[in-house]
This record gives sequence, C-alpha cells and structure tokens, in this order.
Amino acid sequence: MRRRLTSWCIPLLLGAASAAWGQALQPLPPIEPPKAEQVELGKYLFFEPRLSGDGGVSCDTCHDPATGWGDGKALSTGYPGSEYFRNAQTLLNAAYYKRNYWDGRMAGSDLPTLVRDHLTEAHFMQVDGRLLAERLKQVPEYVEMFQKAFSGEPTFGRTLTAVAAFLKTITSRNAPIDRHLRGDGSALSAEAKEGLALFQGKAGCAQCHNGPLLSDQKFHALGVPENPDIFADPFRHTTFRRFFRTLGAPYAENYREDPGLYGVTKEKADWGRFRTPSLREVSRTAPYMHNGSLASLEDVVAFYDGGGGQQRNKSPLLKPLGLTAGEKRALVEFLTSLAGDPVIIERPELPDYTPRKLGQN
Ligand code: HEC
Ligand code: HEC
Repeated sequence: MRRRLTSWCIPLLLGAASAAWGQALQPLPPIEPPKAEQVELGKYLFFEPRLSGDGGVSCDTCHDPATGWGDGKALSTGYPGSEYFRNAQTLLNAAYYKRNYWDGRMAGSDLPTLVRDHLTEAHFMQVDGRLLAERLKQVPEYVEMFQKAFSGEPTFGRTLTAVAAFLKTITSRNAPIDRHLRGDGSALSAEAKEGLALFQGKAGCAQCHNGPLLSDQKFHALGVPENPDIFADPFRHTTFRRFFRTLGAPYAENYREDPGLYGVTKEKADWGRFRTPSLREVSRTAPYMHNGSLASLEDVVAFYDGGGGQQRNKSPLLKPLGLTAGEKRALVEFLTSLAGDPVIIERPELPDYTPRKLGQN
C-alpha cells in the first residue's frame, strides 16, 4: 500500500513543480564564450558590405546596434529590388533561442546555417559564397585574421562560423530584472514590481513569456493586425509570394495575411502562429510584433488588454484583461526594466582591397 502511494504521488508532485517552473522568470545564464579570434573576425565581417552581392548591404544595415540591433522600421528593407514583409528582429540574445526567425524556420543550435541563409537569400544579402571567399582573399588583413582564427585562408564556411561566434557575444548585460531575480530587492522600482506581479498574475503574460528569455519558445496566434504595406507595395508582395512558394506552401498567391508557422509546417493548426519573442531589451526594439504593426509598448499593452486581435485560430490564453490605467503603466514600467546596459559595438575601420600579385593567390 505504502509503495503504491509513493509511486502515485511522485509524478503528481513533479507535474505540479514543472507547471510552476514553466512560468517562472529566470536570470539569463552566460553563454560559453567562443574563440576570441573568431569573435574579433566575426565583428569585422558583421559590418562588412563585401559580404553582399552588390557590396552595399551588411548585417548592420538591418541590425544596427544604435537601434537595438534592429532597423527601427515596421517592415525590413530587403536586398535592393526586394522589400521584406516582416520586422527585422533584434540580435540581442538571439543566440539563446531553440528556433530562430519569427516563424522558427531555422534551428538555433546551428547559427552558421542561419548566417548562410542570410548571406545567400534573395531578400537578404544575395551573395555567392565562392565570390565572397575570393573577395576576402584580396584583403591582406582578412587573410591574417582568418589565419589567426582558423589556421587557414578565408572560406565561405569559416565566414559563417566567425559571424556566428560574434552573434553569441551580443547578449543582455546587467539588466535590473536579473539583479532582482538574484535577490537584490532594490533593483526594481515599486512600480516595476507592481508590473511584475501583474505580468505573472492578472495580465497572464508569463503564461507565454517565461524562463530566462521571457519566452516559452513556442508558437501562438495572437491575431496581430495585418500590416497593409505588405499587400500595397508590389516589391513586398512579390517577395512575400516568392518566399511562400519557395517553402512549398500551397496556394501562396491567394494569401492575404502572413501565415507564420504554417508556411514551414503546412499544418492547419499553425496558421498565423509566431514564435513568442524574448522581452529582454524590448524597450529598445520598437516597433513591435512580426510585422511591426504596434508602435509602442503602450500599444502592445492596450492590445493585450483588449484580449488580442481577431483571428479564428487565436490562442485561448488571450482574454480581455480589464487593466486600469495605473496597471497598464506599471506593466510598461516592468517591460522597461528588462533592458540592461546598452550593448553598443562601433563599426570597425574596414580594410581596403589590396589585390594580390599574379602567381601569389
Ligand atoms: C536586408 C535586411 C537584413 C540583413 C542585411 C540581415 N538581416 Fe538578419 N534578419 C532580418 C529579418 C527581416 C529577420 C527576421 C526574418 C523572419 O523572421 O522571417 C532577421 C533575423 C535574424 C536573426 C534571427 C533572430 C531571432 O530572434 O531569431 C539573426 C540571428 C540574424 N537576423 C542575423 C543576421 C546576420 C548575422 C546578418 C549578416 C550576415 C543579418 N542578419 C543581415 C533582416 C536582415
Ligand atoms: C498566448 C501567449 C502569449 C501571451 C499570454 C502574451 N504574449 Fe506577448 N507575445 C506572444 C507572441 C507569440 C508574440 C509575437 C506575436 C506576433 O508577432 O504575431 C508576442 C509579442 C509580444 C511583444 C512584442 C515583442 C517584439 O519584440 O516585437 C511584447 C512587448 C509582448 N508580447 C508583451 C506581452 C505582455 C505585456 C503580455 C501580457 C499582457 C503578453 N505579451 C502576453 C505570446 C504571448
């Protein structure tokens, strides 16, 4: 009898503990630092327009440290001749995700492949990997830096590894929320503490925004309003169509809204679902949502207060919240306490080409 009782009790207790754990906020753990020489090279390459087809676009064109490592626009500008149909995500803490991009189509465990997608895709940087490697070989400073980082010459594959190493260093530092979670009672203002209680209680945010990133890393449909620019601008619309056709999503020419995760899985239940983004540094990364359709944190809180948007697939977790004006302010104050010290990396002075003499390549 005794034995039966314990074997019945243990799973129950574990179940209760993991449900509570799932909603808890946690401090951000450190990432194992990549090799310093690869990070240093990756920093140069991040700002290097020679990594794009026309030599005019670099990672920081769309992920500018001065605008929270995004571009500050609702929808991202694509490679010349295309316009993208989603918001350029912040790179702050991007290396922590299990799945990357708004629709999670890239595996976070493989950042070099994400960098390759960015370099070669028609809507991002449109470069040929062999051309890129030949360009870098004509810059003696890069030849030297690749030698230090990889004991070898510039190649496309090493370029991906170096940029991925740099991405792992763009992380939140010294955020008030982390000091609070580690027990510093004075890290958050009284209003931010009220906001935190609402976040985990009445407002229900922590149902999805939890863990060290304040993201459950899952996909939900909120019914975010459409951004009409996607269909009004022919450049964006053609990029949108080409994108979903490339993924093999059926009847892509008929879509009048971004299907999100559905485009990747083609499962009906995934229509309109997007990855829960981290809320760390969120006060630096306006405008908000996959299509930048909400301009400010006040707009986001008002959106949730109304129970989210209109969508047949909408998550049952969203309900009208009935927040008072003071409660809304407290939530915004809490969201602002999720930003740490600014992470600003200046563009390094990029080396010139020095074409090698014949016979020395
Ligand atoms: C033309 C604009 C543009 C350029 C240039 C660009 N990106 Fe992006 N980046 C985006 C957009 C837009 C997204 C979101 C894509 C989506 O969800 O469909 C994104 C997403 C990302 C993400 C995923 C973040 C997350 O939260 O999952 C990473 C990492 C990233 N970019 C790194 C880079 C790197 C490294 C470079 C340079 C090699 C680069 N980007 C160049 C526009 C750009
Ligand atoms: C059902 C899960 C869920 C709940 C509950 C939820 N969120 Fe979200 N949150 C998401 C998802 C998913 C997105 C991205 C949606 C999109 O782009 O279409 C998001 C986006 C956001 C963004 C925009 C971030 C950015 O980088 O653009 C903010 C801010 C935010 N949520 C705050 C909150 C707050 C505050 C609450 C509570 C009032 C809350 N969320 C409740 C899942 C949720």
